[in-house]
Amino acid sequence: MEDVDIPNRRVLITGATGLLGRAVYKEFNENNWHAVGCGYSRARPKFERINLLNSVEVHDIIQDFQPHVIVHCAAERRPDVVESQADAVSQLNVTASGNLAKEAAGVGAFLIYISTDYVFDGTNPPYKESDAPNPLNLYGKTKLEGEKAVLENNEGAAVLRIPILYGEVENLEESAVTVMFDKVQFSNKSANMDHWQQRFPTNIKDVACVCRQLSEKRMLDPSIKGTFHWSGNEQMTKYEMACAIADAFNLPSSHLRPITDSPVVGALRPRNAQLDCSKLEMLGIGQRTPFRVGIRESLWPFLVDKRWRQTVFH
Ligand SMILES: NC(=O)c1ccc[n+]([C@@H]2O[C@H](COP(=O)([O-])OP(=O)(O)OC[C@H]3O[C@@H](n4cnc5c(N)ncnc54)[C@H](OP(=O)(O)O)[C@@H]3O)[C@@H](O)[C@H]2O)c1
Repeated sequence: MEDVDIPNRRVLITGATGLLGRAVYKEFNENNWHAVGCGYSRARPKFERINLLNSVEVHDIIQDFQPHVIVHCAAERRPDVVESQADAVSQLNVTASGNLAKEAAGVGAFLIYISTDYVFDGTNPPYKESDAPNPLNLYGKTKLEGEKAVLENNEGAAVLRIPILYGEVENLEESAVTVMFDKVQFSNKSANMDHWQQRFPTNIKDVACVCRQLSEKRMLDPSIKGTFHWSGNEQMTKYEMACAIADAFNLPSSHLRPITDSPVVGALRPRNAQLDCSKLEMLGIGQRTPFRVGIRESLWPFLVDKRWRQTVFH
């Protein structure tokens, strides 16, 4: 049998079947790390099927694989599920995160817990890592409790807060950015778009790169720990993202209607939870893909007008 060269740095990724986790798995795998991904309902055949609510399964995979790094991407983030199944969501976002952090400490692994800008109330941006969180909705609350559970169980762990994500998706509904594409392309129907909440759409590849860079820095410097922020730097409302998407594909945008009132339905949202990323930037960590470039790359497989696709991409 041929010898296979397995890299000696090992990383375990939870949520590797999800939007961010897939990009994180790819980033480590392509950069000389031995990566093992864990998923749940979508795990097989590529990934390990691990229920993070089952502490025996979590203990066993960590003891068997002995990772140097764990990137914890698994969480429940769908607003309807969070609001309607609060206890189950708290089990995953909080209890399971604390347990994973304890198991990581048991093998000396560096844990990165992925958190969110929704831990802030959005009234006084930009937010530094040291600013006081004040989540407005249940999702933000469970993610903040998850941060605390992680840091209590593993004092060497890192928390990485990030905002709204987009990138390569399995279906358009997978990201709050890509889900707008059909409303943009079907221009025969007018579409209302939020123009109240200020967002900073962030590419999953860029977050994945930050996770890898942070892990590699930590391997050299054990003082790398605690809370960090990463975000794209283009401020846009959903209306502005939709217009940018239309522009990127040469599509009309006159059917898109900006709604400037604060939303009255659904969970409360922060008006502007901009994250100050200077702490990571000072460490020389970071990568930012321009929105126009990243969104075109992510959405072109879903473009309906095939003629346009052929002339531009082939
Ligand atoms: N998406 C965003 O815009 C955004 C913004 C800020 C922060 N974040 C944070 O970024 C992280 C990644 O988010 P995402 O958008 O990539 O999430 P996602 O696409 O919804 O993926 C969720 C992942 O969690 C896994 N999972 C669910 N229940 C599980 C269980 N009981 N045991 C093990 N795994 C389980 C799922 O596995 P299966 O699908 O295989 O069941 C899936 O891989 C989360 O921590 C989220 O809070 C996301």
